[in-house]
Amino acid sequence: MRHLRLFVCAVPLVLFSVGCDEKLSDLTGPTPDLQPTMSSITAQIFTNADSSGRRACSGCHTDVGRTPAAGLNLKDAATAYAALVGRPSARKAGATFVVPGDADGSYLVQKLEGRTDIVGVRMPLGGPYLTDGQMLVVRRWIQSGAKND
Ligand code: HEC
Repeated sequence: MRHLRLFVCAVPLVLFSVGCDEKLSDLTGPTPDLQPTMSSITAQIFTNADSSGRRACSGCHTDVGRTPAAGLNLKDAATAYAALVGRPSARKAGATFVVPGDADGSYLVQKLEGRTDIVGVRMPLGGPYLTDGQMLVVRRWIQSGAKND
């Protein structure tokens, strides 16, 4: 009986998580190796363009050779983490860029999805924007605690 119960519970769990991961890597299209970690998101999104024509955030959000757009510096993982996690928007009162465990409540997500109540415009400025799969990964990183990993 005990074995049967374990089997019934564990099999759907395993199938479900494998199913999710396969779907995730399919969906992340122009960045197939994108992982829900700070270092991966920085390397593949913040500091790199991709084949969809999306520009690197650090083209504008850097202090290398310019003043960072909106004062937001995303030039490397350590700088981006310090600028984003638990940090307030300079332009929208009361908004926090990344609220660990709350992707919907994170202003970074709202700016990347172009929600109607943001101040300014959808990011990256002028598009192309992140794909649904790329957004899933960013959301998963925040939902699982926005670790500095
Ligand atoms: C071509 C330049 C450019 C690119 C590329 C760009 N941004 Fe921006 N970003 C801006 C400017 C200018 C602003 C200020 C105006 C606004 O908020 O719409 C801004 C504002 C922001 C804000 C809000 C800052 C605040 O204090 O409220 C966030 C968050 C942001 N950008 C994230 C990103 C991310 C993440 C990327 C890459 C996926 C990106 N941006 C790409 C120019 C850019």
